[in-house]
Amino acid sequence: MADSSGGPERPIGIFDSGFGGLSVARSLIDLLPEENLVYVGDTGRYPYGPRPAEEVRAFALEIAEHLVGELGCKMLVVACNTAASVALADVAGRCDVPVVGVLEPGLRAAAQATRNGRIGIIGTVGTIASGAYQRLGAEMAPDAEVVCAACPGFVEFVERGETDSDQVHVLAERLLAPVREAGVDTLLLGCTHYPFLARTIGDVMGRDVVLVSSADETAFDTRALIGREGIARERGPASHRWLSSGDVDWFVEMGQRLLGPELESAEKLDLPATGRQTPC
Ligand code: DGL
Repeated sequence: MADSSGGPERPIGIFDSGFGGLSVARSLIDLLPEENLVYVGDTGRYPYGPRPAEEVRAFALEIAEHLVGELGCKMLVVACNTAASVALADVAGRCDVPVVGVLEPGLRAAAQATRNGRIGIIGTVGTIASGAYQRLGAEMAPDAEVVCAACPGFVEFVERGETDSDQVHVLAERLLAPVREAGVDTLLLGCTHYPFLARTIGDVMGRDVVLVSSADETAFDTRALIGREGIARERGPASHRWLSSGDVDWFVEMGQRLLGPELESAEKLDLPATGRQTPC
């Protein structure tokens, strides 16, 4: 197993159930162009949203262990709300590197953006059912009214590359009705796949509602953390490595559309059906 003490040259590890974390990876590359990066998209086992929390936790620990133990990452970004909402503390407790999630950064940005004090949060069934956002909302924005809604099906549209179809628009009309009716002026996209549906979600919510993605705030938190820990890389050129547990050709094709030209090629990562329980 590789040394996990975390020097600056080591990559930042980032993972998601599939393509969603690419929204965070984009922000990381833009803000920290000199940092080496390894991304795992668990496209072979997506979606995480409908799975039991225990299973998602096992997957998250397994990927975190691989990123730190095998690939020598100096820190981790859990770029999946579903995984972060049930496993952030477990990943941080198990892995001997700093860990950043996406819930707190996103909620902080939403709390700053709201003018009428009504914040909508949308996420997967697993994220909303975990109660993590509801708890965090009470802590971080005690004066705000937080209205949460699960959006089953959104992730599948993104993974299929269907981000702007009539079908996804119809689904959005139905699923976003509760947050629209609640009169929120700010909507937190509490799933890293959802920024890729921003046009559809924005059309349904209307122009007065501010859409907040956690991607940029998470990148700023990452920058602050590696600065504090003294593990920031000083200069480039950086290497970016992309791993997928599913169809690698599809990962590259879709990944280039969603993230951009940095995703030139990808490698296959073989992950077993269930997670292991060994320390990083
Ligand atoms: N991007 C993941 C999230 O932020 C999607 C989860 C899924 O695979 O359902 O929750």
